[in-house]
Amino acid sequence: MQDVIDYLDQNRDAALDQLKELLRIPTVSADSAFAADMLKGAAFVHNALHDAGLSVETIETPGHPIIYAEWLQAENAPTVLIYGHYDVQPPDPLDLWTTPAFEPDVRDGCIWARGATDDKGQCWTHVLSVASWLKVRGSLPVNVKFVIEGEEEVGSENLDVFLEQNKEKLACEVAVVSDSSQYAPGIPAITYGLRGILACEVTLTGPNRDLHSGSFGGAVINPVNALCRLMGKLHDDQGRIQVPGFYDSVIELTDEERAQFAALPFDESEWLADLGTDAPWGEAGFSSNERRWARPTCDINGIFGGYSGEGPKTIVPSKATAKITCRLVPDQDPHQLTEALKQFLIDNLQPGLKFEFTSQHGAPASVADLNSPYMTAAKTAIEKSFGTVPVMVREGGSIPVVGSFKVILGVDTLLLGWGQNSDNLHSPDEHFKIEDFHRGTAASAYLWQELAND
Ligand code: BES
Repeated sequence: MQDVIDYLDQNRDAALDQLKELLRIPTVSADSAFAADMLKGAAFVHNALHDAGLSVETIETPGHPIIYAEWLQAENAPTVLIYGHYDVQPPDPLDLWTTPAFEPDVRDGCIWARGATDDKGQCWTHVLSVASWLKVRGSLPVNVKFVIEGEEEVGSENLDVFLEQNKEKLACEVAVVSDSSQYAPGIPAITYGLRGILACEVTLTGPNRDLHSGSFGGAVINPVNALCRLMGKLHDDQGRIQVPGFYDSVIELTDEERAQFAALPFDESEWLADLGTDAPWGEAGFSSNERRWARPTCDINGIFGGYSGEGPKTIVPSKATAKITCRLVPDQDPHQLTEALKQFLIDNLQPGLKFEFTSQHGAPASVADLNSPYMTAAKTAIEKSFGTVPVMVREGGSIPVVGSFKVILGVDTLLLGWGQNSDNLHSPDEHFKIEDFHRGTAASAYLWQELAND
């Protein structure tokens, strides 16, 4: 299949140009101000898959459209379901970007833009590899089905409905997703486990309007003080989450898995230095990799209320809000724990406050079979392109569809991350190394051949 690889090599500039075009569309799924751009993004993906030679449909949902595409002419060959997402996280804070988030810039061997690695750049490696097989050979060694959605960054709730309604159409042997990371520069990885998630928002209201803190302060509940106190109760001093029952169904790491994690190269002080902090933090009794890959968390993502403009202001604010997410591990149930968290907050609430709680989304954790023939095919494909055998890791991020593929379609997902955790995903100055973009594309091209050989 050297002809396919040669074609990819000869067309690297065109591939990057096409990615840049997609990156210019600000597909922020969380913010309705970008609704028209979401449609533009969906149309771009639709047209690219059509031009690559697949039959394509755009499926409307109550939220953002899903693109489905297929090429099913490989007889007696396995069928692979490739998933990616064209939506991105909000680019804020905008003033911390070196170049604007939706004006892709190439510098220092990387492409810089929101979505460069999460997930437009990574997703595009599969679009390009399939397009090149079809261009060079007129066929693929496997059957492929693409599902590219626009709601991953807001919980993929509408995607599950699509999966439920289209089980036969989506039938496959294995799913492939590139939306995770390599373990470190020079160390490619296959991710065999992801954490799940629950997301919610809590608002406390005290007085019916902001009050003068001299005339009223000390005699009326301050909801910002109260929210801070409440949030402070979520963890004990050992980093354990205090919500009753939170750890009841956690599957503990085996000694073997702990040993596997410990055998990976990891320089904790270097890792912390890169993050600009000088001490690790987390649940007592666990290493940093165990904490971030296989232990649950409870994080406040944003907390606001009262005055946050320049200079002082003296008020008892009327309201305070916190956005909370918990990362979950097998076998924690997102819906049950959302209720447990809500009850914990109610039970610890001070009097004089109105309590509002909104559950936003939830998805369970997932762990894949390490010994499947698909894993072996993926390892070989990565080794051929990256020149190194990948390590097997778990990751702390969440990709809701991975659990749904298992539950609804009954298949495992190969999580083949081409990016790095240091690519600033969800943060200003997101980027993707261009060499990783091309290596990922070649690994994808090899993968179709390896999966057919099995
Ligand atoms: N690409 C990430 C998930 C990820 C990050 C996996 C790092 C492995 C390593 C994905 O696009 C993402 O950010 N997902 C969200 C999902 C959530 C909003 C439901 C996440 O994890 O926050």
